[in-house]
Amino acid sequence: MNQGTLIMVAALILVVGGAAVGGYVIYEDYYATSSSKSSTTSAPSSSSSSSSSSSTKTSSSSSSTAPSSSSSSSASSSSSSSSSSTSSSSSSSTSSSSSSSSSSSSSSSSSSSSSPSGSDTYSNPGVYSWKCPNGVSSVSVVAVGGGGSGGVSGSYTTNTQFKSYTTPGTYTFTVPSGVTQVDVAVVGGGQGGDGGYCSVFGYSGNGGSSGGYSRATLNVSPGQNVSVTVGSGGAPGNNAYSPSSGGAGGTSKFGSVVATGGQHWDQPGSGSTSAGKEGSQGTTSYVGGTGGASVYDGYGAGGNGGCLGSDSDTNPTSGGNGAVIVQYNATFATCGGGGSSGTYVNSKSVSVTPGTSYSVVVGSGGSEGQNGEASSFGSTLVVAPGGLSGGAGSSSAGSAGASPGKGTPSEDSIPGNAGSGSSGGSSVYQSYGAGSNGACGSSAPSSAGNGIVSITW
Ligand SMILES: *[C@@H]1O[C@H](CO)[C@@H](O)[C@H](O)[C@H]1NC(C)=O
Ligand SMILES: *[C@@H]1O[C@H](CO)[C@@H](O)[C@H](O)[C@H]1NC(C)=O
Repeated sequence: MNQGTLIMVAALILVVGGAAVGGYVIYEDYYATSSSKSSTTSAPSSSSSSSSSSSTKTSSSSSSTAPSSSSSSSASSSSSSSSSSTSSSSSSSTSSSSSSSSSSSSSSSSSSSSSPSGSDTYSNPGVYSWKCPNGVSSVSVVAVGGGGSGGVSGSYTTNTQFKSYTTPGTYTFTVPSGVTQVDVAVVGGGQGGDGGYCSVFGYSGNGGSSGGYSRATLNVSPGQNVSVTVGSGGAPGNNAYSPSSGGAGGTSKFGSVVATGGQHWDQPGSGSTSAGKEGSQGTTSYVGGTGGASVYDGYGAGGNGGCLGSDSDTNPTSGGNGAVIVQYNATFATCGGGGSSGTYVNSKSVSVTPGTSYSVVVGSGGSEGQNGEASSFGSTLVVAPGGLSGGAGSSSAGSAGASPGKGTPSEDSIPGNAGSGSSGGSSVYQSYGAGSNGACGSSAPSSAGNGIVSITW
């Protein structure tokens, strides 16, 4: 060791000795610093890896989407640059890209060298123009017509039904299904005729008064129970030296509609529509009074008065029974028939001319009982008829829409499915052009599925 080394060793001992004085605190500091260090070293590595992975993702995703879209656009622009009219072709390429962006567009970038390939799909109803790229002489076209709508609902009403209660007693009227209104006639019982004693002075009995009459139209609901009471006619009085009066007629009811019976020859029954009639008084001519006439259909008339002691005695008669007559019309809803689905055409080789524009029509599904629209390519080159609507409900359910049949070309076509009952025909291709169900009740049929046109080259 030389002198310099000795000085360094001595200085080291001093430092270590000083550290030994600090002891515990220094260890804490050391571990604290080392742990924060490891976290900072791990943090940069993770952040750098995440930033590198995120940059790879965006670059890969952007590079994956950019080349395919740019190669298709560059392929179309290179093809348009080879043609003379650059401006018209570039404007048509933007219009086609805008229309296809609403649907979907894809094109493969690999075969850009010899013949271009790609596809355009139109799935929103409307009319479009598709321009055939250069170098393309045949395309494959898939077309599905719009589905037919289900038919609208209907209803029918039965002939007027009657329910007559004419025997005294209490009943329950259960409102039949389909009935929401009833028209009721309620008649109280007639009073019985009074007895009479007419052998000396000829005083015969008075006729009984008739029952009152109430007529009403009531709103009801099917299944509702309504209590019914038919009032009986009053019993006749007695012919005797002290004759008795006829009994009062009973009250009749349909729910809250009431008509009371005749009480006395001059106290006829009451009702909201008409009071009963008074009976006529007995006379001295040995003839009992006549009962008050019925005010509705012969029910609830008063009985006739009697006479005792004449050459030919007449007994008083009982009052007529009351009645409850219920009239109603039942109305039943019917469903519309299901619409058929749109026809499917898959034509593998449709001859086209480069640079020529072809119309593309995507048929919409029918709504509210309408047929679906046809989808087509090139007007008549490919035609997929729309589904047919279901029939409207009437006195019976609507008929289901028949299949629209084959399209054009017929050999490449599968007809749309007919509806079944109130169910719409199912789609032939994916979920496009399905027929909708017929409506049942007050709501309109749901809209049928729209068609689609897809062109591949
Ligand atoms: C039932 O229908 C007939 C004929 O349309 C009508 O005159 C009558 O008022 C209806 N009755 C009820 C209770 O709605
Ligand atoms: C009406 O009466 C019938 C027969 O008693 C009963 O079955 C039914 O539950 C009643 N309906 C209502 C709404 O109370």
